[in-house]
Amino acid sequence: MVPKKILLTEDEMPRQWYNILADMPTPMQPPLHPGTHQPVGPDDLAPIFPMPLIEQEVSQQRFIDIPEPVLEKYLIWRPSPLVRAYALEEFLQTPAKIYFKNEGISPAGSHKPNTAVPSAYYNKISGTKRIATETGAGQWGSALAFAGALFGLEIKVYMVRISYDQKPYRRLMMNTWGATCIPSPSPDTKAGRTILEQDPNSPGSLGIAISEAIEDAVTTPNSKYSLGSVLNHVLLHQTIIGQEAQKQLQKIGEYPDIVIGCAGGGSNFAGLALPFVRDKIAGKKIEVIAVEPASCPTMTKGPFVYDFGDTVQMTPLLPMYSLGHTFMPAPIHAGGLRYHGMAPIVCQLILDKLIEPRAVHQLETFAAGVTWARTEGHIPAPETNHALAVVISEAKKCKEEGKAKTILVNWSGHGLVDMMAYNAYFEGKLTDFELPDEEIQKSLKALANFPKPKL
Ligand SMILES: Cc1ncc(COP(=O)(O)O)c(C=O)c1O
Repeated sequence: MVPKKILLTEDEMPRQWYNILADMPTPMQPPLHPGTHQPVGPDDLAPIFPMPLIEQEVSQQRFIDIPEPVLEKYLIWRPSPLVRAYALEEFLQTPAKIYFKNEGISPAGSHKPNTAVPSAYYNKISGTKRIATETGAGQWGSALAFAGALFGLEIKVYMVRISYDQKPYRRLMMNTWGATCIPSPSPDTKAGRTILEQDPNSPGSLGIAISEAIEDAVTTPNSKYSLGSVLNHVLLHQTIIGQEAQKQLQKIGEYPDIVIGCAGGGSNFAGLALPFVRDKIAGKKIEVIAVEPASCPTMTKGPFVYDFGDTVQMTPLLPMYSLGHTFMPAPIHAGGLRYHGMAPIVCQLILDKLIEPRAVHQLETFAAGVTWARTEGHIPAPETNHALAVVISEAKKCKEEGKAKTILVNWSGHGLVDMMAYNAYFEGKLTDFELPDEEIQKSLKALANFPKPKL
């Protein structure tokens, strides 16, 4: 019998994270202090992050040891299986071989605990008592709530209003793990109150929720802030996914021709892709595709600029593709992909032509998710559906061209807490939305006087 799942034993789980900063063909441009426009130093970041994470953010060391207590917690759900999607292949009548790395088996249901656990651990050993954070779809908030419970930390989550209303079960998961979750914009912070004065019905955005969580962390004693995507150290923690996948594929003598992931802030995509991008830098011929929503087309339509990571300008200026920090994405159901910016590492690799960005429409993504559920069984998260839409279009292309390519996708999370989104799709209430260029130009006006990164 041909194997369906390729498994690693607990002993075979990688003991180090892979840091692509050691191998980037073009060195990264530094984040800048918004006031001085000089590169930010560790002291600038110390009020919001514990020092071990700040060190990882700038480290040039190729491999970084995963601490023993983090490995122990990873074993709750890792190593995650690599699975061959035979039924989908058969349904599509494609010669392509489709493999998915199932990150939906973590307690929170997505890849997010891969970084929530080390973030909570490093905060704990640095003396932090409480962490404030934001969440879009609720996946990151629930991952940090879970990690906070493991290490005895108090967690407060600012959840983007539209997702808070659409996904009550996410909030209840956070509560079950002992965290507090409130809708953002909220009256609890100056940033939230300012937005609410302008628009009491604001659906919120990740940019606003980040502003609230940072303000909370710097104004509350013994508190720090934790970000679930975008930053170098977050992508670093996620590389356990790609390293496991490499070992699993090696076991069966396979290597992917195409690596695919959806990208909100870039972390699950990068977690799978970066170990393969390392091989690509060394000469391997592979396609690496990051998929985003056409309604929030950061990588495919945004310029490469210095911009803030949040709406009220509290973060350093990051070199990234951006739709502008004041951009308010359409209320699509993939809440985790509604972000104006993108991980600077992913952006630099796009500039260096090592990663190809692609945008897909909402209806195509739900159609892909339903096809997946009816063939492979697992119901994917709406974010994951973006990656699956491209998997299906690439597999169909293989059929047309008669090419038996090997496709590897990051199955970033399950959709069991997102069934209202599927309901809206079945009831015909979802629409496609292509962001008009004028709207992008409008929100980019705010960046006119910002420093410009080298192209
Ligand atoms: C299931 C799932 N996939 C993907 C994402 C996008 O985030 P990132 O780009 O950091 O992986 C999210 C964000 O919440 C998510 O919940």
